[in-house]
Amino acid sequence: MGIDTTERASASLILGALPMPVLLVGAKDEILFVNPAAEQFFDMGAGLLVRQHLQDVLPFGSPLIQVMAQARERGGTLGERDVDLTTPRHGERLADITVTPLPGRDGTALVTLQERSFANRLDRQLLHRGAVRSLHGMAAVLAHEIKNPLAGIRGAAQLLEDGLPDQEKELTQLICQESDRISALIDRMEAFGDTRAMPRAPVNIHEVLDRVRKVANTSFAKNVAFIETFDPSLPPVLGDRDQLIQVFMNLVRNASDAVPDQGGEITLTTGYRPGVKVSAGVAGSRYSLPLEITVRDNGPGVPADLVPHIFDPFVTTKSRGSGLGLALVAKIVGDHGGIIECESVPRRTVFRILLPQAAEGV
Ligand SMILES: Nc1ncnc2c1ncn2[C@@H]1O[C@H](COP(=O)(O)OP(=O)(O)OP(=O)(O)O)[C@@H](O)[C@H]1O
Ligand SMILES: [Mg+2]
Repeated sequence: MGIDTTERASASLILGALPMPVLLVGAKDEILFVNPAAEQFFDMGAGLLVRQHLQDVLPFGSPLIQVMAQARERGGTLGERDVDLTTPRHGERLADITVTPLPGRDGTALVTLQERSFANRLDRQLLHRGAVRSLHGMAAVLAHEIKNPLAGIRGAAQLLEDGLPDQEKELTQLICQESDRISALIDRMEAFGDTRAMPRAPVNIHEVLDRVRKVANTSFAKNVAFIETFDPSLPPVLGDRDQLIQVFMNLVRNASDAVPDQGGEITLTTGYRPGVKVSAGVAGSRYSLPLEITVRDNGPGVPADLVPHIFDPFVTTKSRGSGLGLALVAKIVGDHGGIIECESVPRRTVFRILLPQAAEGV
C-alpha cells in the first residue's frame, strides 16, 4: 500500500493534533507507533514506547490485551468502556478503548484511548447541579400522574366511609390522610421549580415570627415553651412575607420535632449585626446582611455526619419525613440573597439566618 509523502505528512499532522492517545500495535503486541497524546498518557517519549510491548505499559492482566485478541480474531473494530488502566506510576485511570485491526496487515491494530475521568467528573457535577432543577421536572410529572388519580382515590374513600360502621372508618380516614400527605409532598417539590421573580417588599420579621409561634403553639408544638428575644428596633427585611413564614415554620417544626416531650424549649432571637458582609457574584462586590434571626432548640442535636448534608433534598432521619423542609428553607433564604447556617451540639441546636435590610436593597 503506497502512501506518498504529502499524504504521510497530513496523516502525522492529524495524529499529532488528535487529543486522544493513538497507538499502532503489531501482531505480538509490540508498540510500533504512538502519537503525542499517547506519549503524554504514558508519560514516556515515543522513542522509549516503541521499544516496548503493550503489556509493559499496562496494568497486569489488563482487559485491553483481551480486547486486542478478540478484535484480531473477528477482524473488526471492538470497543470497551471504562477499562481500568490504573498503574502505580500513573495512579487511577479509566478509559474507553477501541481496537481496529488493519486490513491485510496480519495482526497489526490501531488502538485509541479516551480517558474517562474528566468526562465523568463533568457529568457528576452537572448531575449535582441538575438535581434541584430536575426535582421540578419530576414534580410536574408527579403532579400529573399521581395527584390526579390520588384525588380520585381520596374521593372514593370518602364515599365508602358513608356506609361504614364507625370502627372501620379509621381505615378510610387513613387512606385520606395518606393521600393528603403525598399530595402535600408533591406541592412542596413543585415549590423548588418556582423561578418567578419574587416580589420583594419590606417585611416585619417579628410579625412573621409571632405568627409562626402562634400556629405552632396551637398545633404541633402545644407542649413546647417559646422564648422570644427580639431586638425591637430591628428594621424590616427585604423579602416575601409568605415565603419567610414558610422558612420559619419549617425551622420551628424541626425544632419542635427534636425537643423532649417534657421541658422542650424553642428560642427565637433577632438582632442587628451591621458588620456582616458577604461577597456576591464574580465581581466580588460585597453587600451586608445585617439582620440576624436564630431558631434554637434544646433537643439532642443534629447527628455530626448529617450536618454537611442537612440542606440537601431528601435527607431525613424521620420515618415520615420528606427531607424537603430544610432544602426549601435554604432555597428561599438563597433567593432572598441571605445565608443560613447550622451549629449543633446536644441541647443546643441553632439555625442562624442572615438577611438583607429593606432600606438598603441588594
Ligand atoms: N432542630 C433539629 N434538631 C435535630 N435534627 C434536626 C433539626 N432540624 C433538622 N434536623 C435533621 O435534619 C433532617 C432534615 O430536615 P428537613 O426539615 O429537611 O426534613 P424532615 O424534617 O426530616 O422532613 P420534612 O421537613 O420534609 O417533614 C431531619 O430529618 C433531622 O434529622
Ligand atoms: Mg422538617
